[in-house]
Amino acid sequence: MRRKLVAGNWKMNGSLAALAELDAIAAAAAEHGEVDVVVCPPFTLIAPAAARTPALPIGGQDCHGAAKGAHTGCISAAMLVEAGAGLVIVGHSERRADQHETDAQVRAKAEAAIGAGLRAIVCVGETEAERDAGKAVAIVDGQLDGSVPRAGTGETLVVAYEPVWAIGTGRTPSVADVAAMHGAIRRKLVALLGGEGDKVRILYGGSVKPDNATELLGVEDVDGALVGGASLTAAQFVPIVAAAATL
Ligand code: 13P
Repeated sequence: MRRKLVAGNWKMNGSLAALAELDAIAAAAAEHGEVDVVVCPPFTLIAPAAARTPALPIGGQDCHGAAKGAHTGCISAAMLVEAGAGLVIVGHSERRADQHETDAQVRAKAEAAIGAGLRAIVCVGETEAERDAGKAVAIVDGQLDGSVPRAGTGETLVVAYEPVWAIGTGRTPSVADVAAMHGAIRRKLVALLGGEGDKVRILYGGSVKPDNATELLGVEDVDGALVGGASLTAAQFVPIVAAAATL
């Protein structure tokens, strides 16, 4: 039985004042101890977030694949650890698109993260054109081949399936499509990682809201959610945590 994980990705949103939202999120995480909860704010808010709610795990949204060096503007996994993060998202579709990140770079980031003692959430997902062309599973399969660190375990690695067309659009795949994709991802993880592949949590992400969380989180092989917009306020995020706790 895999513990559910509900992760909030604030993207490039938030401020010191917005950290007040964490108080109620931390309280909900404590109340629903059977669910793992993490919030990933922008880099500059990691340390103040960790200081404000020490019991609530905090994550980063990216790290570099190298340990240090001449990479202006980048952050290493060890820097995230020092700031108070316990986890990092790598390979989000927005970074794959905006920063042209490749599967190999994403894998290097995940390996650097795990090497530094972080859990890594490796993101995969197809575009709408790829789904319409009937290539969704093949695209995700290829992303997993290229991005998944082979030393990943159920403890250190999480995979997030986020169809690009469902992010920030209010649209979600059907339950049948989510089940088919998560089943395919599970088979791939077992092929790549053996028995550990069965322990790796697979999150669904893309327009998860309080009113669809129970349905999406109830799908087989959906082990949690990666939540964008609805993670910005406790009013929206806490009901998603509560929904995960009922499953
Ligand atoms: P939304 O929940 O805003 O659709 O974002 C999903 C996402 O990209 C989380 O990483």
